[in-house]
Amino acid sequence: MLSKEDNQLLSQVGSGTPMGDFMRRFWVPAMRIEALDPGGNPVKLRLLGHDMVAFRAHDGRIGVLDEGCPHRGVSLTLAHNSDCALTCIFHGWKIDVDGNVVDVPAEPPERRAAFQGRIKAKHYPSVEKAGVVWVWLGGGVPAPLPNFPWMNLPPENVGSRIGIIHASWLNGLEGQLDSAHVGILHQDWVKVLPGQVADLERAAFDLSPRFEFEEKPCGYREAAVRNSQEGGLYVRIREFVAPWYSFIPSMGGLDSGHLCTMSIPMDDEHSIQWDLFYNPVSPLVRRNSPDDGRDQNDLAAGMGDVTNRWGQSRERMRSNASFSGYPILRHEDYAVAMAQGVWADRTKEQLSSSDIPIVRGRRFLVNAARDQAVGDKVAASMGTELGQVRAFSDLIAKNTDWRTLPLYGPEHYAGFKEAAE
Ligand code: FES
Ligand SMILES: [Fe+2]
Repeated sequence: MLSKEDNQLLSQVGSGTPMGDFMRRFWVPAMRIEALDPGGNPVKLRLLGHDMVAFRAHDGRIGVLDEGCPHRGVSLTLAHNSDCALTCIFHGWKIDVDGNVVDVPAEPPERRAAFQGRIKAKHYPSVEKAGVVWVWLGGGVPAPLPNFPWMNLPPENVGSRIGIIHASWLNGLEGQLDSAHVGILHQDWVKVLPGQVADLERAAFDLSPRFEFEEKPCGYREAAVRNSQEGGLYVRIREFVAPWYSFIPSMGGLDSGHLCTMSIPMDDEHSIQWDLFYNPVSPLVRRNSPDDGRDQNDLAAGMGDVTNRWGQSRERMRSNASFSGYPILRHEDYAVAMAQGVWADRTKEQLSSSDIPIVRGRRFLVNAARDQAVGDKVAASMGTELGQVRAFSDLIAKNTDWRTLPLYGPEHYAGFKEAAE
């Protein structure tokens, strides 16, 4: 259970709110790089309650600007993208990728240069890494980017997909911190995914895992420790990294066991759900997910809303063709996040022991948002403390401490080689 005040504190992301200000200390994963073509259409971008426009110039550079034209506010999503600048269709003001106003055709020629020089469009630093366009909304000197192991991999080793949902970022994040739903909500999929059957059997052998935690500068590592039928322990190790990252062991049927999810707030009521999958040693066999054919820039498109239960098929449930009634795994996650209510009412929930990781995550975030010194410390650690972050599951001997397991030992690569063959 969470107090009304804390629920609000965690859910509000606008500038001037504690969580919004905390989040502005981090680079925001904004869009897949595929969403921006050189010279292509400018794309609307809404993050942390702020409306922007992003475009890729013909020379490949990316510009991220306030959505409204600095003249009289027409949306620059309507603008032309040419000559490495956006040209507003109302009066032709031209703004380059750095926010400089480089032409104001309606101003008399003798005053034009001086006038242009006085005006600057609000522009946001951006960087491309791991197939993601990252945007800095924090003002001042940008903080370091997170040094995740996947940040510097070649593009062919990293893939991603996103879904835009009508639910708070917190609903999405908590779904990712919650391992108990996997064998229930996603039961149709985990049964058929390669490598999942053994994991499922092991998880089913001991239904009440012990949760153990290791505090980290930017979040925590969590292990669900179970007795295994083989005699030792079966551990599933996950990691939460503030403010919106969760690393989950072998999920989603992708050809990589490495998955990072992110729940990015567009505003208080909408969020972008990311799956980023990567292979640290070789190119991904398939960069697209099993949901091929759907728009990887919005997997949730067309789901609908409460009036059609977000696309749930009762017929498929009745005929036992599907447990949840949803056509793909991620629609199940999106549907339950939206069906909790845009802001889940956390004052009424009855938490069980499988919710302990969620409680830990909330506590971490409340502290970091309330106490500026704590928030600063988390943000400052992002550039140096995340090089070993990953999730995995393993069988270990009874007397082994999972905290001592190698995170990037050769044994963890065996599966990737198989997948590549
Ligand atoms: S509103 Fe854009 S040029 Fe006038
Ligand atoms: Fe899920």
